[in-house]
Amino acid sequence: MLNVSERVKSLKGSPIRRLTPFANAAKKRGVQVYHLNIGQPDIPTPASFMEGVRNAKVDVLSYSPAMGIAETIDAMVGYYAELDISLSHDEVIVTIGGSEAFCFALQATCNPGDEVLIPEPFYPNYVGHSTMNGNRVVPIPTRIEDGFHLPPMKEIERLITPRTRAILFSNPSNPTGVGYTYNEIEGLAKLALKHDLFIISDEPYRELMYEGEAISIMSFPEVAQNAILVDSISKRLSACGARIGCLATRNKDVLAAVNKLCQIRLSPPTFEQLGLVAFLKSKDHKRDIGVIVDKFHKRRDAMFDALQTIPGVVCRKPEGAFYIFVKFPQIDDSEAFAKFLLTDFQTDGETVMVAPGADFYATPGRGTNEVRVAYVLEEPKLVRAVEVLKAGLAAYVEEKAGVAAAR
Ligand SMILES: Cc1ncc(COP(=O)(O)O)c(C=O)c1O
Repeated sequence: MLNVSERVKSLKGSPIRRLTPFANAAKKRGVQVYHLNIGQPDIPTPASFMEGVRNAKVDVLSYSPAMGIAETIDAMVGYYAELDISLSHDEVIVTIGGSEAFCFALQATCNPGDEVLIPEPFYPNYVGHSTMNGNRVVPIPTRIEDGFHLPPMKEIERLITPRTRAILFSNPSNPTGVGYTYNEIEGLAKLALKHDLFIISDEPYRELMYEGEAISIMSFPEVAQNAILVDSISKRLSACGARIGCLATRNKDVLAAVNKLCQIRLSPPTFEQLGLVAFLKSKDHKRDIGVIVDKFHKRRDAMFDALQTIPGVVCRKPEGAFYIFVKFPQIDDSEAFAKFLLTDFQTDGETVMVAPGADFYATPGRGTNEVRVAYVLEEPKLVRAVEVLKAGLAAYVEEKAGVAAAR
């Protein structure tokens, strides 16, 4: 009998995409679905990037160098220099999105059976890739009531065992939007130093901070050997389909290990690397990112205000990224609720798709009354989507009460 691997069997699929067949069925029935489930912005990718792709002089679409085109790496080094992050050419490796960068970071640093500390709720693909790498995710619990900030370092230190190899987090965070403070990142850096841990900081939303500034792990020289930066242009350039990210570290052993991983996957996309060079060379690149950030800032405010109109809702105004993690105390199965919205509910021919909360946690039972919403649509659409969500929540609660009464 043919069987797929046990490792893959244990993967759950993504809570962000798993309900898509129900959304497609709703659309077939003529229902309009507002997609708040996925971090896919609707904002045009900057023109200089697109022109760079169109004008690229490529006669043979050959493999690009495994670690990235030299010009692209130089452009990335220049981008970091503008942020006061000093990296040399050989400390930056181009990857196929940030996804490959954190996958490589785990593969390069963790042995099977090793533990990875991750603040929860977290980006669910961290668990997917940790599982595929044979690692155990040990959650650092955070709470909506504390603004999803980290617990005291003493509590985090108690989670460290002889098997702990790395701390992994996104900053600002998907899914909570929390931007960790200087003290929090410094605290994690100290723990990493004290216990010889790698510290993998995933920073694709760096510019998308509406309160304060994102603190990069690269600004802590004392953890130069422990720190691995994961990055991506997907969000800040609204270029998710480009599949361009990078891994940067000053640790030569990690660089050599990732170099080998790059060689066995051959190379990252060519045209998009050239598009990035054109974008970063354009004099307007900072302004172009600023335009995108301003849009998300306004959307965050619109979405947060709209959510406040839902009775019982618990949520906090996130400092960054483009998500809000929302608690609805009146539900106890957010997956069933998210599915109900797509299969059993519509108002004026419209419904909404959200990402159910449980898979953003490793702790069983957490997240069952929470959902993640992404503010990736224009403001009027967001406001309408929240009205639809509010009506859907009321309908769900009413139906549950009816079912309970009939028992
Ligand atoms: C925190 C975080 N890291 C990495 C990724 C993956 O990004 P990429 O498109 O660069 O693979 C995402 C995508 O949503 C993300 O939110």
